[in-house]
Amino acid sequence: MKIYLDNSATSWPKPASVISAMSSYLNEYGGSPGRSGHQFASKAACEVSETRELIASLFNCPAAERVMFAANATHALNFAIKGVLNQGDHIIISHMEHNAVYRTVSYLKDEGIISFDIANCNEHGFLDIEHLKSLIRKNTRMIICIHGSNVAGTIQNISEIGSICAEKQILFLVDAAQSAGFVPIDMVEDNIDLLAFTGHKKLYGPTGIGGLCIKDEIPVRTLIHGGTGSKSDLAGHPMFYPDRLEAGTLNAVGIIGLKAGIEHVLDKGINHIRTSLSELTRYFIDECNQIDEISIYGPSAKQERLPLISMNIRNMAPADLASTLDKEYGIMVRPGLHCSPLAHQTIGSFPQGTLRFSFGCFTTEEEIKYALDSLKTIIHNQ
Ligand SMILES: Cc1ncc(COP(=O)(O)O)c(C=O)c1O
Repeated sequence: MKIYLDNSATSWPKPASVISAMSSYLNEYGGSPGRSGHQFASKAACEVSETRELIASLFNCPAAERVMFAANATHALNFAIKGVLNQGDHIIISHMEHNAVYRTVSYLKDEGIISFDIANCNEHGFLDIEHLKSLIRKNTRMIICIHGSNVAGTIQNISEIGSICAEKQILFLVDAAQSAGFVPIDMVEDNIDLLAFTGHKKLYGPTGIGGLCIKDEIPVRTLIHGGTGSKSDLAGHPMFYPDRLEAGTLNAVGIIGLKAGIEHVLDKGINHIRTSLSELTRYFIDECNQIDEISIYGPSAKQERLPLISMNIRNMAPADLASTLDKEYGIMVRPGLHCSPLAHQTIGSFPQGTLRFSFGCFTTEEEIKYALDSLKTIIHNQ
């Protein structure tokens, strides 16, 4: 038996339509988008541009050309942070951030370029808005917040943070790696200036593709220079979007897979996916709450949360548990710190971390029941 409950690391399985779109590109028209101009390249370019449109409409990003493709959310966040911040800027991050943000801003701080403060979050991972406001200084240029926590499943009220940013004229960068495709996001309504997403989690695309959506007026410096297939006679890198930020051959097969993944989410309906996964999550939490040895982290089962559950089991290390589940029961989950030491400090599970079960749109009730039974047997036998 093989049961994959590690969808927050990367979703699996992928929809059949994703695999078929990618294989059709590779088999039938594998040209390089934006290069050459022949029929294969043109068809690939057309797919890429339709994907940009689809992403812009998914997140209400005002202009499709301001959707930049990147390898993943980490690369997108690096562009948004290193490509926007200047010497002397102050920024604020939350105490739930992933290392994709925390290490990037720590690097800039260590280089003497920026300073940053960390806004408190409560034990369930919710941001303390009053503390956030108290940290704002004259030179605060950006607030960065994770939308959905990969550790506690907490969903932040990005609309409230966005309003504060708009009022104070501070840039708002949202890390939507875990939430994109699961929680509706509206860049205009939520006052988001920069939105980083990854393609391989709740958008059900392949690994190696993600991106950054940029509000019209925000200039982002490129971190990579090179060929764009445009203005090739000039030594200077083009300043227009998206070429400004996309040097080198695009990951066409990844983009085409991402397009099919987003279409899959839209066909099923974000709200429909969320409702059914939330029911499974609630069921799993309620059952775990009946077991004395299990402690669950994050918001209660009644609150809106991501379909992931971090837990600890009395007297058992998360890594040992994960290994037993994998080897003896065929259940694949993720133990440890999940690249997010700050979040574990916040919820009280640092440094040992937690054992995380995470569900995707193909997870079934039977799989969840089997996981619960397996946990009960492990606890009973310890
Ligand atoms: C909240 C959060 N941000 C950023 C990332 C980085 O995403 P990627 O590995 O696709 O760059 C992850 C990955 O797990 C994440 O959970």
